[in-house]
Amino acid sequence: MVSTKVDLCGMTLDNPVMAASGTFGYGYEFAELFDINMLGTFSFKGTTLEPRFGNPTPRIAECREGMINSIGLQNPGVERVIDEELPKLAKCLHKKVMANIGGFSVEEYVEVSRRLDKCDQVGWLEINVSCPNVHGGGIAFGTDADAAAQVVAAVKEHVSKPVIVKLSPNVTDIVAIAKACEKAGADGISMINTMLGMRIDLKKRKPVVANKMGGFSGPAVFPVALRMVYQVYEAVKVPVIGIGGISTAEDVIEMMLAGATAVQIGAMNLVDPYICKEIVEQLPVTMEKYGIGSLSDIIGGAH
Ligand code: SIN
Repeated sequence: MVSTKVDLCGMTLDNPVMAASGTFGYGYEFAELFDINMLGTFSFKGTTLEPRFGNPTPRIAECREGMINSIGLQNPGVERVIDEELPKLAKCLHKKVMANIGGFSVEEYVEVSRRLDKCDQVGWLEINVSCPNVHGGGIAFGTDADAAAQVVAAVKEHVSKPVIVKLSPNVTDIVAIAKACEKAGADGISMINTMLGMRIDLKKRKPVVANKMGGFSGPAVFPVALRMVYQVYEAVKVPVIGIGGISTAEDVIEMMLAGATAVQIGAMNLVDPYICKEIVEQLPVTMEKYGIGSLSDIIGGAH
């Protein structure tokens, strides 16, 4: 009998498989398809202080082995998330959820975190300093070690739940940013968010996405994400959540060998809404195939 349990910041996950923010809504939409309690947990749609309509359309461009999105942090705002979305989620998820938090100022990150920290359902706060699709927020904080650390330190002062900071791959030295966030008090690092990319429509001779550029994700980014997780694992002591192009149980194991304590599945949820379920079901069989008795024993095993 294999064990898929892992510990994430003092809380046990039944397995390391989470759905990534922005690809799983507020969970109840997917609960119509399968029992979402079979997941480790998931990170809900990035939430800001005020409601946001998001970027102009088209916001999606298909690519070989992935996709580009430029959603622009569309969400109903923290008040409605707490009053309307979380109660709907409570009916179908009986474990803690990860709250993903976006912002345009340090104060906004703090205020949204403070409010979500008070919600019983929320187990972890994932601070998104890496959205590439908005101006003056998200990635503007995540590409500068001092700015990212400032957000983390300010949030930590006002919350009691573990703070996980979601990092951008669109930087020269992700290790320096991860270390600055750890020093500022981050309890974990999730990485990577999407890579800035674009497509051009040959007939129109114009960018496919209205915002011209967007975040590229999907199986093609897996080796890049794996490399970055490997590097960051060597530099920090806090847990790392590996994200980027994961589409099989083998990918989960590979990411854990690189140093991930847990993983998030993103783009593939949009291709196959059952992908997380399938990966969770495949994990024990795949562990047996590679002689793994306990997943928590293999974290960082490739170092
Ligand atoms: C978006 O809403 O534009 C995507 C979120 C993100 O990439 O962090």
